[in-house]
Amino acid sequence: MYNWTPTSWRNFPIQQQPQYTDAEALNRVEQQLGNLPPLVFAGEARALKRQLAEATQGKAFLLQGGDCAESFAEFNAGNIRDTFKVLLQMAVVLTFAGSCPVVKVGRMAGQFAKPRSADSETIDNVTLPSYRGDIINDLDFTSQARVPNPDKLVQAYNQSAATLNLLRAFAQGGFADLNKIHRWNLDFVGNSPLGERYEHLAAQIDQSLNFMAACGINAETTPQLHETSLYTSHEALLLNFEQALTRQDSLSGDWYDCSAHMLWIGDRTRQVDGAHVEFLRGVKNPLGFKAGPSMQVDDLLRLLDILNPDNEPGRINIIARMGADKIAEHLPALVRAVKAEGREVLWSSDPMHGNTIKSSSGYKTRLVSDVLREVKGFFDVHAAEGTYAGGVHFEMTGQNVTECMGGAHDISAEDLHNRYHTACDPRLNADQALELAFLIADTLKQARINR
Ligand code: PEP
Ligand code: CO
Repeated sequence: MYNWTPTSWRNFPIQQQPQYTDAEALNRVEQQLGNLPPLVFAGEARALKRQLAEATQGKAFLLQGGDCAESFAEFNAGNIRDTFKVLLQMAVVLTFAGSCPVVKVGRMAGQFAKPRSADSETIDNVTLPSYRGDIINDLDFTSQARVPNPDKLVQAYNQSAATLNLLRAFAQGGFADLNKIHRWNLDFVGNSPLGERYEHLAAQIDQSLNFMAACGINAETTPQLHETSLYTSHEALLLNFEQALTRQDSLSGDWYDCSAHMLWIGDRTRQVDGAHVEFLRGVKNPLGFKAGPSMQVDDLLRLLDILNPDNEPGRINIIARMGADKIAEHLPALVRAVKAEGREVLWSSDPMHGNTIKSSSGYKTRLVSDVLREVKGFFDVHAAEGTYAGGVHFEMTGQNVTECMGGAHDISAEDLHNRYHTACDPRLNADQALELAFLIADTLKQARINR
């Protein structure tokens, strides 16, 4: 194959990019970003790859979640803390009830750019460019707001740096101590059936910790009880931003995209001869790509050839997002082909993006029951094929939003307007996310017993 460079993607056809009007301003910002410190280290990306290799081999489970799109307006410590709490809760449920080590990866600290199904949006006969995420333009429906603004790239970088800094502090500064497990329950979840189920599990963990402490194993002797690691990820959509954060590792000489530990390619930008695949093949981070119902076996194998020519475990995560009604029909052929070819792949399930519907009240929503059904379908396919269902990828928030229907509080179409805050796709709220975690833990446990 011809040489890869951080700029070689510019010679390939590209989808889903904004049309900047001020080329000079854009150039200035790209130069500026290129001089700013990397957000993550290559060594951290390698550590994540090792953990994902374990998950590929069925010895761990990937939990990847966070916002559909982070926003500048909703950026504050409380929101970051609450999303982190829900991820910790889900992880502890999976680790304890599912008896499986969990690799935690946030859709956080860089998940800003959004692919859109249409380039423009029309309301009351006015047509404007689509909103593409806060790193590009603004959500307001005015022509001024929808102009792509290069300065937003710098703001996104700064917000990512601050978010990552807080996440590192939470992960390592005592907040994630297993002895504080009760404090991760958010107030509004505490008195729901799931909050109670969580409290029950937390009490069992307390008992285990007391027993271990009596045996001399405590947070001082065993740092794992006191701290955790949370890696970051986002869709590598806006390639000029990704290029500007791409650096050559001084230890290995390899290139890493230092905007996040893991990057993924969306279902709309995974063309084998397109710019996104070209860019990502050259960086050594762990990579994901989405596989929707239109994914063909040949294309999937071509993507693996290009993105993982050495068949390195931990490099590739295929994120299936078929939809609850389609997974049983579309996933088996892909899983079978990957298995028959001996490709090292971590399979995970995104039960969100194939299940978006419009509610009778007009809101874009998802049914929690569809989300759960797709996850179950995903596990069923892997059980039938003798392969490992290695992870989940979902959109959630620690806020008490009403964006997805169903769950413990049985949110109805009429309830959606109460706290519908997302700028993009509907997210699971904390108790809907916990429900998902308990379902996965039960399924994971069963799958381990059957293996
Ligand atoms: C997403 O994960 O936010 C997304 C847009 O997904 P997909 O590429 O699968 O549609
Ligand atoms: Co989304």
